[in-house]
Amino acid sequence: MLTVAVLISGAGSNLRALLDAAADDDYPARIVVVGADREADGFAHAEAYGIPTILVPFREFETREEWGEELSAQLRVWQPDLVVLSGLMRLLPPGMVAAWAPRIINTHPAYLPEFPGAHGVRDALAAGAGQTGASVIVVDDGVDSGPILAQERVPVRPDDDAHTLHERIKPVERRLLIDVVRRIATGELDLAAASDSAR
Ligand code: GAR
Repeated sequence: MLTVAVLISGAGSNLRALLDAAADDDYPARIVVVGADREADGFAHAEAYGIPTILVPFREFETREEWGEELSAQLRVWQPDLVVLSGLMRLLPPGMVAAWAPRIINTHPAYLPEFPGAHGVRDALAAGAGQTGASVIVVDDGVDSGPILAQERVPVRPDDDAHTLHERIKPVERRLLIDVVRRIATGELDLAAASDSAR
């Protein structure tokens, strides 16, 4: 059974989907801890499932590295096989990426390498894109620049705003995330190999 830590900053709808999937006996992964960089609404989903939470407030640390070291130390207590960034709106410090690579993945609401960063949905709309998408990647030191594990296109409608577009992207993201975690757990997807071949 693959043990998973999920890191969030907000509502945690992707986290909820993964928790629901993992509640199925046939799903080969279990979430062992949920962490956040702030008081995240999504903690409620972890609590509903009786999953422990760790809060490491970014603002209480002088440097990004110190924050990352504390977050890593608290995560290690739970010995996760995989760390999933699911709406964590912070760039991880290089030391933390190095500590967990390649066992750390991220979901992103755009068809990478298009529209990386914190505003993937808004940026796609601002660019007048006819289509965008969702991606799941391995985390590296860049901004959403790691090897792509899964992605799918989502059309942009003429009347879309950032909210309606994001709400159509999220179900796709959830499906991709659940499938990627399942494939990592079964060994169908090898993160080390995916990272090596991207070099
Ligand atoms: C998701 O769409 C996730 O991909 C995005 O934030 C949303 C979180 O939603 N992350 C990023 O944009 C990271 N660059 P959720 O909290 O409801 O799962």
